[in-house]
Amino acid sequence: MNLAIVGSGYVGLVTGACFAEVGHQVICVDNDLKKVHSLQDGHIPIYEPGLEELVKKNVAAGRLSFTASIGDAVAVSKVIFIAVPTPPQPDGSVDLSFVEGVAREIAVHIKEEYRIVVDKSTVPVKTGEKVAQTISRYNPGADIDVVSNPEFLREGSAVEDLMKPDRIVVGVSSNRAVGPMKEIYTPFNAPIMITDLNSAELIKHASNSFLSLKISYINAVAAICEASGANIERVADGMGADKRIGRAFLNAGIGYGGSCFPKDISAFIRISEELGYDFRLLKEVETINRDQKERFLKKIREALWVLRHKKIGVLGLAFKGNTDDVRSSVAIAVIQQLVAEGAEVRAYDPKAMDKARSLVPEVKMVAQAEDVADGADALLVLTEWTEFKSLPWLAIKKRMLSPLLFDGRNLLNPDEMRSLGFTYTSVGR
Ligand code: UDX
Repeated sequence: MNLAIVGSGYVGLVTGACFAEVGHQVICVDNDLKKVHSLQDGHIPIYEPGLEELVKKNVAAGRLSFTASIGDAVAVSKVIFIAVPTPPQPDGSVDLSFVEGVAREIAVHIKEEYRIVVDKSTVPVKTGEKVAQTISRYNPGADIDVVSNPEFLREGSAVEDLMKPDRIVVGVSSNRAVGPMKEIYTPFNAPIMITDLNSAELIKHASNSFLSLKISYINAVAAICEASGANIERVADGMGADKRIGRAFLNAGIGYGGSCFPKDISAFIRISEELGYDFRLLKEVETINRDQKERFLKKIREALWVLRHKKIGVLGLAFKGNTDDVRSSVAIAVIQQLVAEGAEVRAYDPKAMDKARSLVPEVKMVAQAEDVADGADALLVLTEWTEFKSLPWLAIKKRMLSPLLFDGRNLLNPDEMRSLGFTYTSVGR
């Protein structure tokens, strides 16, 4: 099928590449002409495993192309996906101006043929209704249906998540859109759940908020583990073995970050408020997440006593492993606090150093993980990169001034680290 994806950012690009991979004819649109040209030349602006190969392969096969013109894309595409940013505003609500702007532009380019406009951006409930009203206002004769089709991609495994989804959610306001949407997604071999527009939009906010809730819950239990001498990993394993609970997203640490969870949870609280419900449960999830970072910093302060002029080595800047994304990264927030208290920080991340530099300009970035240890009073693990597990830890210890190791992601084995001579502290273990 001929598809257009408006917005060639993280979600749009991965979605477009995967749609092309299963045989659809895809045009990705972006208003940034420089980006369009560089995508046409095969340069991918983000690090995402498997994406570059997929884009190159499908461009070469003639199934994937890039343009800056919404008009050109709308003219030939039966289904138009909106995948533009929905950034947070200072009050926690969502800035929908990009979605609205794209809806207006799509509207004026729709001629007499039927078109389906699909919202893929994460938006508050009732946005689809507004998109439909907007298109009708700017083009009263437009024969359209608006669909909500939220994405559930995790950064770092986005291609795999899209190619092998748990479920596909399609919210419609008319049955006419169901057939084409099923046709698009049939090659992905996953259950397709057809709902109304508002339910589909809610599924996205409710899912991300629930996952954040799981993380805050396990972090709260980790605090009880620390106070009682229990081990959070054993507790999470025991809980997670119950199919009703599940082990995923029960990893304690310094809290969740990234471009989705913090934004989506505050947007969900905000839209709930507008609809007359005070979502106190989710407010507490946010508070626990903030506290988690503070609890970690407190352990460092207690061990080092004074932070001023202390040399601290940091492993990890990205908001999680396998990505170069540093947006709302708890690692960055921890470093900023350490720097504010006078510590001298050296840091290493396999992918995120370039993007982190402007956020923590005082930090010296080093070329190799081991180099963060030189003369360090303490070393912190702040991102769950698997490769940190197999670093030459004994050699690292020898390069440190004092062997304090704080593992904010419970990545390393406590017994092994202690047997190497580290004074090892993690979360809830
Ligand atoms: C999330 C959702 O998982 C995805 O479905 C949605 O489409 C976008 O938002 P993402 O932001 O890429 O994906 O990251 P995710 O893997 O969910 O992790 C979010 C944060 O939670 C990270 O900071 C991670 O370190 C943290 N986390 C995750 C934990 O602290 N503990 C866990 O058990 C899992």
